[in-house]
Amino acid sequence: MTDPARNETVRTFYGEMPFNYWSDVSQAANSVRSNPLQAYCDLDDLLEGMQTPSVLEIGCGAGWASNSLALHYGANVTAVDFTATALDRAREVSAHLGLEAQTRFIESDLFRFETEQTFDLVLSIGVLHHTHDCRRAFAKAASFVKPGGYLFVGLYHLYGRRPFLGMFHDILATEGEEAAFDRYAALHSQSQDATHVKSWFRDQVLHPQETQHSLEEVMGWLDDAGFALLSTNLNGYDDVSDRANMIETEKTFEALSNQRNRIEGRYFPGFFTVLAQR
Ligand SMILES: C[S@@+](CC[C@H](N)C(=O)[O-])C[C@H]1O[C@@H](n2cnc3c(N)ncnc32)[C@H](O)[C@@H]1O
Repeated sequence: MTDPARNETVRTFYGEMPFNYWSDVSQAANSVRSNPLQAYCDLDDLLEGMQTPSVLEIGCGAGWASNSLALHYGANVTAVDFTATALDRAREVSAHLGLEAQTRFIESDLFRFETEQTFDLVLSIGVLHHTHDCRRAFAKAASFVKPGGYLFVGLYHLYGRRPFLGMFHDILATEGEEAAFDRYAALHSQSQDATHVKSWFRDQVLHPQETQHSLEEVMGWLDDAGFALLSTNLNGYDDVSDRANMIETEKTFEALSNQRNRIEGRYFPGFFTVLAQR
């Protein structure tokens, strides 16, 4: 999908309801207090070893990651998103947690965002695959990393995502949206907040624009941008020197995703992360 007008469709979609949106600020703040970034153990380890890192978040949404970076790792965070409602919430949570001095939330399309500053860490979680040109968005994010700095990106996975989407598209076509929502809510059982679950369901099942990507493809993008891959969740954050093996292994994620989603009824949306160094 290479039509830039798709970005406006995406902005409208999130303007109706941002992703990961709690019904109130205090629940959002509690989620930040629990430090959801620890789910990404390579990123958590990296941040634990950094002193007041400068961080740019591309597509910060309602701000859980930016506010967690500031609260738990002492980061100074610049965060960009083009959805005003999401940024309003991100600022409210920042104020609630007393993080205003460490966080700056900027309304901008990522393709138009410019700054002279480069950063110790640039991260973008679940964003670039919702643009009209994921590869260009990836290169843009990478361009803000200092020499020696880090890039952390999360994207939908070509192999792991298809069974998840296929299952929900089947339910949508045969039983309708309510049934698809009920199925999603059953899988996503960790949240009791109806608004929050709805915001995830829309994002993960009803999205008007997404692309999926492979580790093989992203390793090529990293090579082109002058980055070395350090780790990925696709191999459990293990050694990344055997590229051929990782490329073969990632193809097995289609079967794994089928097993998890359709047979075991476990949540497996098909998402992968890479941590790389410039
Ligand atoms: C799935 S949400 C992820 C938000 C956040 N990273 C998180 O993990 O909660 C995708 C976000 O990307 C933002 N986004 C998508 N395309 C964008 C663009 N071209 N420029 C700026 N933000 C964009 C949307 O507004 C939305 O907040």
